[in-house]
Order: sequence, then structure tokens, then C-alpha cells
Amino acid sequence: MVAFNRFFSAVFLAVAYASVSQAVPFEQDVKHATHRVREIGRGLKVEVFHPPTSYSTFGDGISGPLLKGGDLKSQTIAAVRERIGVDEASITFKSGYSQSSESFGYVKQQHNDIPFANAVANVAFKDNKLVAFGSSFVKPKKIASSTPIISLDKAISIAENALEGKRNEHPAGLEYYVTPGGSVVLTHVVQVQNEATDAWFEAFVDAHSGDVVSVTDFVADASYHVLPINKMVIPEGLETIVDPQITTASPNGWHNDGSSESDSTTGNNVVAYKGSQSSLTKESSEGHVYTYVVDPDTEPNTTNNLDAARTNAFYVSNMIHDITYLYGFTEAAYNFQNTNFDKGGKAEDKVLMSVQDSSGTNNANFATPPDGQSGRCRMYLWTMTTPRRDGSFENDIIAHELTHGLTNRMTGGGTGRCLQTTEAGGMGEGWSDAFADWLWQKNGTIQDYKLGWYVYKPEGIRAYPYSTDPAVNPLKYSNVKGNYAVHSIGTVWANMLHNVHAALLADHGYSETAFTNPDAQADAGNVVFMRLFIDALAIQPCNPTFVNARDAWLQADVNRYEGTHKCLIWKVFASKGLGANADKFVDNFDVPTECKDSAEEGGEPEEPEIPEVPEEEETISPGEGWL
Ligand SMILES: *[C@@H]1O[C@H](CO)[C@@H](O)[C@H](O)[C@H]1NC(C)=O
Ligand SMILES: *[C@@H]1O[C@H](CO)[C@@H](O)[C@H](O)[C@H]1NC(C)=O
Repeated sequence: MVAFNRFFSAVFLAVAYASVSQAVPFEQDVKHATHRVREIGRGLKVEVFHPPTSYSTFGDGISGPLLKGGDLKSQTIAAVRERIGVDEASITFKSGYSQSSESFGYVKQQHNDIPFANAVANVAFKDNKLVAFGSSFVKPKKIASSTPIISLDKAISIAENALEGKRNEHPAGLEYYVTPGGSVVLTHVVQVQNEATDAWFEAFVDAHSGDVVSVTDFVADASYHVLPINKMVIPEGLETIVDPQITTASPNGWHNDGSSESDSTTGNNVVAYKGSQSSLTKESSEGHVYTYVVDPDTEPNTTNNLDAARTNAFYVSNMIHDITYLYGFTEAAYNFQNTNFDKGGKAEDKVLMSVQDSSGTNNANFATPPDGQSGRCRMYLWTMTTPRRDGSFENDIIAHELTHGLTNRMTGGGTGRCLQTTEAGGMGEGWSDAFADWLWQKNGTIQDYKLGWYVYKPEGIRAYPYSTDPAVNPLKYSNVKGNYAVHSIGTVWANMLHNVHAALLADHGYSETAFTNPDAQADAGNVVFMRLFIDALAIQPCNPTFVNARDAWLQADVNRYEGTHKCLIWKVFASKGLGANADKFVDNFDVPTECKDSAEEGGEPEEPEIPEVPEEEETISPGEGWL
């Protein structure tokens, strides 16, 4: 599907580019900015589409030949004409207003006097100079006739039926709608409401084909101003995220614990608080809106920054609940929820997420009691910088901690007692780093990964970045020998998993929907990685060794994929010393005969060249005891 979608947007973009005179700063994640797939009503799936937007700002402002003063409407139209070279007949002025020395104008594209729903532009002036300009105007390759074939009455009944509601009194109208394919269809725009389900939609019904081509949902269930789950640190950029909850995993959303709906950072999966569980962040406006904007240049414990931190910790914890649920950390598999909806396991054990916990600094921890008792996460402030930084605003630290809950619950059947040996506890730390690493990878080319680099220092808190390059990360199985420090042992395991992930990505590509719908591209490398990661937890023994855990990955692959990835998995583990005859922390680089490359057949496999770990590893390791 990814390949198809890329192709889809690429075709469209070629069209859009042709119309836009200035360079469009293009994000890698094109679809994120332009599309949204919604599932609505009776299995109806609609792809909401907004053409790519070009946006420029001009500092003190510019004035051009067409910008000769006049009222806001004529100035706005002049600015749009000048910026993108369209004629006046293609522009319709929607609205505008002025505020002290600034003015703002909003227009739509139009054709035969019919406005475009999703091709718009906005203009800002200061002191009569242009200071900002944004546009999603398009140059259509095909535009439908402005005379409808489907009547309005027919369109209304199509919309009511598709969206399971009734048309309201709001006047219907005709608008053009730009499709992702680049053509422009004529639509009847009709509002449909359903009082019983609280639904309120605007449907765009193609006035020639009768298809519902798009839907606007006026009810936003929740929005959070946070660091998105695939970003780890504030410098990567905060965003306002609308309705991130995954309904399969959280059927009542994130704010309903099974008996009541909250208007704060508590719900079925997690309560994010400071000090006491009643010290929560309340929604910033009604309807589960949490838009506190963190200011990293001030102390993390200001009222605003604390509210932003509780919101981020709540968002990340819920995302991880929902994502791991999709991969098998369900009620029956001993997860953390207040209500289990009669789906097995023990209830009343949501995660207690203590933000800016006063019991420590420069660290974080997670306690995993058995299923039925809440897990407790303590997030601390970090004092390495001025102002201090907040672990609750470094997503990899939250992810690391919550993964302790996952691995401790899923290994050995929900007792919380099965990652207690040094070796198993070490791997526990490794899974936690590896999960954060998996969340962060944004495409099929794996990047080296560092944990905790924002709160601590640019090198991160571990001795080596996770890497496919042995010169960057030389760790092998034998580095566990004589090592009693769980975090250091963990880095050996996490680097093996980083390399398994890299190999799966290289062979099977990357799914953009791995967090929301693993089945959409079930054989993508990042999906297979997380499937095996979580499947293996349930089948490995209590207090596993490295050898046991490797064998559990291979078995998980047999169980789910008929062993498709067997040799890939063997080769990676063997390359790090955890080969077929590895034992007692002595490196072994063998793979089973059937996994030997034909060139090697008959001969002894050669030991890969991996640089020795420098002697001073222990002393340069800054992160011992961390997280
Ligand atoms: C923030 O923490 C500092 C250091 O502990 C303390 O002096 C200050 O009073 C705190 N501010 C708030 C608003 O709690
Ligand atoms: C993949 O994502 C990383 C950021 O994680 C980026 O630096 C890199 O350029 C991307 N590679 C490709 C091929 O898109």
C-alpha cells in the first residue's frame, strides 16, 4: 500500500507544483500533512484530502507591484494574484479582519463562481506590507462540469444513509473538491447529524457520480499539544494531535475509565499526575482539548510547563498502550487497564504516571507488580542543563519505562517476577531501549539511535549509539561476561535487536501504518519486528537467557510466519556472537547449515571483523544505573 500511496501523491504533486510559482518546502511525511483516512458509519472509509500547502513568511514585509493599497479584499486578491499568478476570476474572497496594524485575508479558489472546498489561501499584512502567504491552490488537470447530474435530494439521501444521521437545517451548497488524484469534482455539501451518537458531519457527495468523496467531522474527540510518538525530543517539533486514540485498543477513548468520563489527564489506561493522583491537568478547553504549549526556556515546574508535561506523559503512555495492544499486549495478556471490558486478565491496574516526581532527579523508573495491581512510573527532572529539563518531555524515556511494564508482564504470565536475574534484567533494559528505537525510526533506512540525548548530553546516556556499524557499536554477546550491570548488559541486547530491525527493514520495507494498523502491511519490516518482539515475550521462559530469548524470536517467527525470517534472524544474532553454538558468554558466529550462504558452504564461516570493545568501557559508560 505504501508504494501505491506514494505513487498516488507523486502524481498529484506533479500537478500541484505546476501551479505554484514558488518552491514548496516539502515534508518527507507528505501524507501526514495532506491526508487522513476516516472510518465512518457503515464501514464507510473516506480519505480526507487537503492539497499540499506552500507557505512563506517575509519578516518586515514586502510590497509588490499589484499591492497598491485599497481595502482588505482587493489587497488580498492582489496578493494572491501576485504570489501564484492566477486570474481574478479564480479567486473568491471569503473573509478577513484587521487588528491594530495587522490585517488577515482568507480566499478560496473558484471556477465558474463555484468555490473550491479544499483549495484555499491566506494572506497577512502588517503596515500594508505582505508578511505571510499560504496557499493550497491547484492547477487542475481535469475539472468536472459545474452543472450537477445528481439532484440535491438524492445527494442528501446518499449522505444520510452513509453517515447514519439526518440532514440538519444548515443550507446545502455546491463546491468543487480536489481529489488526491488531482482531478476536481463537483460536490453537494450537506451537513448530517445524529443526536444519539453525537455525530456531526459534513458530507461531500459527488454531483456526477453520487460517491461520498470526503467528510468533515465537526466533533473532535480530543486534541493534545505534544511531542508526537515517533519524535523523541522537543527540538524535533511539537504538534497538536487530534483524536490519536486507537479504538480497537481503547474503545471508550482515553478519558473514560469504565465508570466515568474525566476532563483531565486520567482514564482507563493511565493517570498522569504530580504528587498525588488528584493533581491532574485539566483540559484547556471543553471537549478533551489539552493545548498547553511547553516553554523549554523556562523552568519545567512552572504551572504551564507542568500542565504540558502531564499532557505529554498522558499522550505517550496512552499511545504506547494502544500500539502494544495492537501487537498483542491485551487484557488477556496482562496489560494495564482500569476496566478490561470482560476481555480477560485482571482489571483495576492502570498505569500511575508520576510526572516531575520529587523522589529523585536525572532518572526515571517503573515498578511492575502482578496483573491486577497498577504499574507505577516515576518520571524525574534532569539537572544537567539550565533551565532543567523534564524526562516527561523526552518520549524515549517514557517509552523505555513503559516497556518495562510490557516485558515484565508478558514474560512468564503476568506475575512481574520473570525478569529478575541479572541476565534477564539486563535484557529487560535492552527491550526498553529497543522499543524506543523502533518508535523513532521513520522510514526503511535505519538510523543510528541514541537514548536520552536531550535531557542528558548530545552523546546520549549509553556508552554507544545503537548502530549497524560495528565501528560505532562494537558490542557482542561476550561483553555480557563478567558484567553485572543490567543497563550495560541491556545495550548488548538492544544493539542486537537494532540490527534485527535494520535487516528486516532492508528486506521487507517500512509500513507507515505500523502504529495504527499493523495488518495493513503485515509483512513490512517494522511490523514484523514488533510482532516478533511481542510474540517472543509470551513464549520465552521465566528469567530467560540471551540464548533463550533468541530461540523465542525464532520460534515466534515459526508460529506467525512459518519461519520466513529464520535465516535473517540467525544471521544477525550470529554476527553479534549469539550464533548457533553460543553458550556461557563465549561468542559464536555459526548459523545453522540451511542458513549458510552458498559461497560459504563446506568452509568454516569466517568470524566477522568486529573491533574489540575498548578496555575503558566501564569508565566511559555514563549511563550505568540509568532508567
Ligand atoms: C520549581 O523548582 C524550584 C527548585 O526546586 C523551586 O525553587 C521553585 O519554587 C519551583 N517553582 C514552582 C512554581 O513550583
Ligand atoms: C529517513 O528518516 C531519517 C530520520 O529518521 C532521515 O534523516 C532520512 O533522511 C530518511 N531517509 C529517507 C531515505 O527518507
